[in-house]
Amino acid sequence: MQWIEVCKDEALEEGTFIIVENDEGDEILVARAEGELLAVTNACSHDGRGFEGGCIEAGLLICPRHGSRFCLRSGKVLTPPAYADIDIFKVKSEAGIILVEV
Ligand code: FES
Repeated sequence: MQWIEVCKDEALEEGTFIIVENDEGDEILVARAEGELLAVTNACSHDGRGFEGGCIEAGLLICPRHGSRFCLRSGKVLTPPAYADIDIFKVKSEAGIILVEV
């Protein structure tokens, strides 16, 4: 496991997310929701594609294609058509930089 830099803390606004890639090319979505930094895999469990164009509401990530909702804290899927949970990652802010553990 290693921590990779995401962006400056101030660059990630409430209710928004940014996508980063690990060394293997896997994408991780890092969000600020309800004042917390949260990270999940950037792949909807319904079709395997990313959440670009989706939005965040009340701590939930909403898929832009068919609207499944995922809890950003637990990765749990809450509404169909997706039925499988997604992975979560540890994220922190240190010295003004957001870091995610991959
Ligand atoms: S692709 Fe995400 S809900 Fe269908």
